[in-house]
This record gives sequence, structure tokens and C-alpha cells, in this order.
Amino acid sequence: MTAIDLRIETPDEMAALGALVASQLRAGDAVALNGELGAGKTTFTRGLGAALGVRGAVTSPTFVLARTHPRPDGGAPLVHVDAYRLSSPLELDDLDIDFERSIVVVEWAAGMLDAVVDAWLDVHIERPVGGVATEDGIEPRLVRVTGSGVRWSDLGWLRAARD
Ligand SMILES: Nc1ncnc2c1ncn2[C@@H]1O[C@H](COP(=O)(O)OP(=O)(O)O)[C@@H](O)[C@H]1O
Ligand SMILES: [Mg+2]
Repeated sequence: MTAIDLRIETPDEMAALGALVASQLRAGDAVALNGELGAGKTTFTRGLGAALGVRGAVTSPTFVLARTHPRPDGGAPLVHVDAYRLSSPLELDDLDIDFERSIVVVEWAAGMLDAVVDAWLDVHIERPVGGVATEDGIEPRLVRVTGSGVRWSDLGWLRAARD
């Protein structure tokens, strides 16, 4: 399993990382986002959604479990899931998401995807302890991207963008 560590300085950089990941995505792909509240999961997804050209604002889906964003260009829709309130992968399964035909991004994904998909791109976001925020709350994040399954065995595209 390959892992790539990134230091993301600002919310704009986090959105740009989402956009970079978006450039790799196609129908059937899943992205797992983990990290505490306020880590930047939705900020990442916003950048990802913008790069896909999705319709509808990508916001924190805390009060809905999943939101589908169609793409006017006819590309696979983005399904943005907030698994915070799901207690088991069975509940995720119950949402009847069309994984095959969608790009699925799951916030609070830990332990949720194994039973549902074969492979996913894992993005773990951390706020470093003792980090110092600017006046407007901007603070670096440490991001670890891990690929699971054959689909994500090659993260060269990400390494190339980082270096
Ligand atoms: N380096 C950074 N990367 C991402 N978000 C950041 C960063 N620094 C500050 N922030 C702020 O942290 C918050 C992250 O919120 P959000 O993306 O909703 O997190 P989550 O979905 O993980 O709860 C936003 O207000 C964003 O502006
Ligand atoms: Mg969120």
C-alpha cells in the first residue's frame, strides 16, 4: 500500500488538492475522507466538486446523509456522503447509492467502505498539535493519501504534483 504525505497550508490549497484528485476520478471510484470536525473534509470536497463541474453547492451534508450532485456535462454524478451518523456499513448500504455509476466521496469514512466497495482512495487530514492559526483561522494540515486496491496502487500522479 502506498502512502503520500502532504502539507496543506491553506483552505485554497485543500480545495486544490480536491481538484487534483478529481482529475483522476471516474464512475465507480470512491474517496474516503477522515479527520476530526473542522479538519477540512468538506473544503476538499468543495474543490473536488468544483473541478468536476457539479451542479449545486457542495456543503457539509451534516443534516442529510448523502447528496447527489449531477454534472451538466453528463459525467458521473458526485455523491457526497456524511457517514458521521451512520453506525455501520449496513446503513451505508441501505442508502442504495449507485457506486458503479457515481463518484462517491464519504466524510467520516473509517470502517464504512470495506464492505461496500473493492477499492478507494483514502485521505486522512490532521491538524498538527500546537499548530498556530492566522487571524482568519488558516492553519496547516497534514494530509496522508493512501491508495487501496489495484485501482489506486499507483499514486504517481499525486507524487508528481507534490514534487
Ligand atoms: N490548511 C487548511 N486546510 C483546510 N481547511 C482549513 C485550513 N486552515 C483553515 N481551514 C479552515 O478549517 C475549516 C475546515 O472546515 P470543513 O472543511 O468544513 O471541515 P470538515 O468537513 O472536516 O469538518 C474551514 O473553515 C477552513 O477554512
Ligand atoms: Mg464536513
